[in-house]
Amino acid sequence: MKFDLVVKNGTIITAADTFQADIGVQGEKITAVAQTIAPDGAKLIEAKGKYVIPGAIDGHTHMEFPFMSTTSADDFHTGTFAAACGGVTTIMDFALQGKGESLMQTARNWHAKADPKVVTDYGLHMIVRDLNDHILAELGEMVQYGIPSFKVFTTYRKEGLLLDDGAIFRVMEEVRKHNGIVGLHCENNDLIETLMAGFLKEKKTSPEYFRKSKPAEVEGEAVQRAIMLARCAGAPMYVVHMSTQYGRNRVWEAQQEGLPVYAETCPHYLVFADEVYQRKDAANFVMSPPIKGAADRAALWAGLANGDISTVASDHCCFTTEQKKMGEDDFTKIPNGVAGTEAILPILFSEGVRKNRISLNLWVRITSYNPAKLFGLYPRKGTLSVGSDADIVVFDPDKKVPMTAKNLHSRIDHSIYEEYTATGWPVATIVRGQVVQENGELKVDKGWGKYIARRPVTESETLSLLVGAAT
Ligand code: URP
Ligand code: ZN
Ligand code: ZN
Repeated sequence: MKFDLVVKNGTIITAADTFQADIGVQGEKITAVAQTIAPDGAKLIEAKGKYVIPGAIDGHTHMEFPFMSTTSADDFHTGTFAAACGGVTTIMDFALQGKGESLMQTARNWHAKADPKVVTDYGLHMIVRDLNDHILAELGEMVQYGIPSFKVFTTYRKEGLLLDDGAIFRVMEEVRKHNGIVGLHCENNDLIETLMAGFLKEKKTSPEYFRKSKPAEVEGEAVQRAIMLARCAGAPMYVVHMSTQYGRNRVWEAQQEGLPVYAETCPHYLVFADEVYQRKDAANFVMSPPIKGAADRAALWAGLANGDISTVASDHCCFTTEQKKMGEDDFTKIPNGVAGTEAILPILFSEGVRKNRISLNLWVRITSYNPAKLFGLYPRKGTLSVGSDADIVVFDPDKKVPMTAKNLHSRIDHSIYEEYTATGWPVATIVRGQVVQENGELKVDKGWGKYIARRPVTESETLSLLVGAAT
C-alpha cells in the first residue's frame, strides 16, 4: 500500500487499548494500523517516546459569539488554531438562534462565519431561545440536517436566553422523537437575580459578588429540575459545564435509575477553587457557572474517574481585558466566559493522568471517544481505527509548557493559567490526514476545516457509555 502519511513508532492510546504501532493514512482516512509500516515516500511523523491519540473533540465552544453586549474575542480562525494547538481536531460550536429566526437560518449564519476560517473540523449545537410551534417542528429537521444536539438555558433571562420549564419540556419531548439530545445550562435564574439585586443594592459590585450570587445550590436545584423534566419527557439529557458536587450527585443518582442523563465539566473547574474571586484579576475568572469550592473540584474528578461525568469540554468563550472592563463598576456587566480549548488535553494529562486520577485510556475516552459517541460522530471520529478520519495527535508526555497568554494561541491578552506549567503537550495535530499544527506553528490555510454533519444517536448507544465506563 502507498501511504500519504505515516505516524511511526508511537504508543497508540485509544479509549480501550494501549499498544505500539504505526499508523498509515491515505487521503483523509486511516487505512492501516500495524506493527511496522514502511513510509516508502510518504510524509513521516516520528513519534518515538510520544503518545499517539485520537484528536480531542471539544464539545463546547463559542467562537465569535454575540453575548452580553459584545462578541467573544476568538473568531473561528484564532479559536480553531488555539484548539488545534491543544490537540483538538473537531470543535462543536453553539449556534445561537436569533429572536424570531428559523433554526435553518441560524445554521446558515454560523456556516457563513465558520466555513472560511476554521482550521479544525466543526459541528454545531443549536441554542433554542425562542420557541413556537414552527421552531418545535424544525427540531426534527435540524436532526436530519446533522445537528442532533440542542442547548437550552435555565438562566440569562435579561440576555433573552432563558426558556421556561414548559418550553424546555416541549423541546425535550420533540428532540427525543428524533433521537437527538438536549444540553442544559443549569442555574436557577430567580435565585441568581434575587441575590445579584441584593448585592448591587448594598453597592457590592466586585467579581467576588458574582461568585456569591451563584452559590452551589443555584446549579444543584437546576440540575435536579432538569432531570425531572427529562424524566417526564422520557428524554436523554446532557448537563453542560457542570461545576458542583450537587450536580454530580443528582446526575449519578439518575444514572443509577438507568436514566440517559450525561454530564460535561470543564478544565477550569478541575484546576481552580473559588479563592480566585479574591484575586486582582478576578474578572478573568467570571464565567457561568462560576468556579466552586475545593470539595466540588474533588467531586468532579471523582465523577470523571467513576465514569458518571462523561466528557470534559472547554466552554471556550473568551474576552480581552478591555472587554472584561465593561463590568469594572458592576459585576453583572462582566462578559461571562474564559478561554480553554487549548487546555483540555494538557490539563487532563497533567492534573489527571500524571496525578493518577485517571488512566491514559480514560483520558482519551473523556476527551474524544465519549463526545464522539454522544454527539453522533463515532466511528468517523473518536478512535484510531481503519476507516476513521485521520484525526491524530502526537502528544509529548514530558514537554513542559507554561500556559501563559504568550505561549497560548487564543487572541486574548491574558490567561487564567498564567502561573501554571503543564507537563505534557500536543506537538503535532493532524486533521483528516493534514498536519494542521506542529510545535505551535500553523500549517494549513484558513478554511481547511470542514463542517461535519452528525447522525442521530439512539438511547441504547449512549447508555452503553455508562456501563463500565471508568478504567
Ligand atoms: O460563562 C460562560 N459559560 N459563557 C458562555 C455562555 C455559556 O453559558 O455557556
Ligand atoms: Zn452555558
Ligand atoms: Zn458555553
